[in-house]
Amino acid sequence: MSPALLDIHLTDGDADAALRADVRAGLTAIPKQLPPKWFYDARGSELFERITELPEYYPTRTERALLDHSADEIAVASGADTLVELGSGSSAKTRLLLDAFARAGSLRRYVPQDVSEAALRQAMDALAAEYPKLELHGVVGDFTSHLDRLPRGDRRMVAFLGGTIGNLRPVERAAFLHQLRAVLQPGEQLLLGTGLVIEEDVLVRAYDDSAGVTADFNRNVLRVLNRELRADFPVEAFAHRAVWNADEEWIEMRLVAERDVTVTLTELDLQVRFAKGEEMCTEISAKFRPSGVRAMLADADFTVTRVWTDPEDRFALTLATAA
Ligand code: AVJ
Repeated sequence: MSPALLDIHLTDGDADAALRADVRAGLTAIPKQLPPKWFYDARGSELFERITELPEYYPTRTERALLDHSADEIAVASGADTLVELGSGSSAKTRLLLDAFARAGSLRRYVPQDVSEAALRQAMDALAAEYPKLELHGVVGDFTSHLDRLPRGDRRMVAFLGGTIGNLRPVERAAFLHQLRAVLQPGEQLLLGTGLVIEEDVLVRAYDDSAGVTADFNRNVLRVLNRELRADFPVEAFAHRAVWNADEEWIEMRLVAERDVTVTLTELDLQVRFAKGEEMCTEISAKFRPSGVRAMLADADFTVTRVWTDPEDRFALTLATAA
């Protein structure tokens, strides 16, 4: 077994500086907002894992079933020698791809990239034992700012799964795809997972489950701020809300102040007030139409090679080639 490589492009200090900048900008904006990436401390990551098992949260199991059915076709169609996975987390769904690539015989190397060094190390230790012949090269980094640090390959396929691209606003999404295209050679590929536009009630329930796990996940960002920035959010004074924005075609998760609240963020030397009923957006999760996926990829100079969708048209996996 060759020793696994781990490149660190994002230190705890970098993450802390980014958190401070994001929170200061977000809490002084009108309306207030926070970016979703700060949900994912250890507790937040565990809450997200629990969300993926909820009856109402269909995206993860739908994408997994799709991958289960299409992984061999994806592996053969791509012929990649390197699989790069952006935001790999626990690499749970990746095993379906790795097994298919092992059958197809082309893959040499797996490059998981994640913001969490702990999650990455854990995933890589498990994968090293399960896939002794696979070269592993982890990258601790942020997929929006460290794409240029990805190791080169002859023929890479970059997987960006889970529908996470939907967390980016349209401008950020376009910038991300253009940056990704710029680091790829013509012929290299992108495998993109996207949630599709479906019935509003199914969507809203997926982001507002009856067990309240998503509500707890949403409020977790306040606990992160309390700990990391020595803030004093009264977490229980904020209610969870999920709304379908039909114009933008995205789900908005919000935290609603249930009473007037004044919060001190000691590390930022900042005090903010929430009026009773004030809403703060903590995440958008955009859903797409097949034509929209094609258009955003074409705009970034990718050509769609193949699309797989589930029987209910809730989720799509799109294989695209850098033109
Ligand atoms: C992990 C970003 C794909 O947007 O569906 C789940 C996160 N938020 N429930 C999503 C999430 C609320 C999830 N992604």
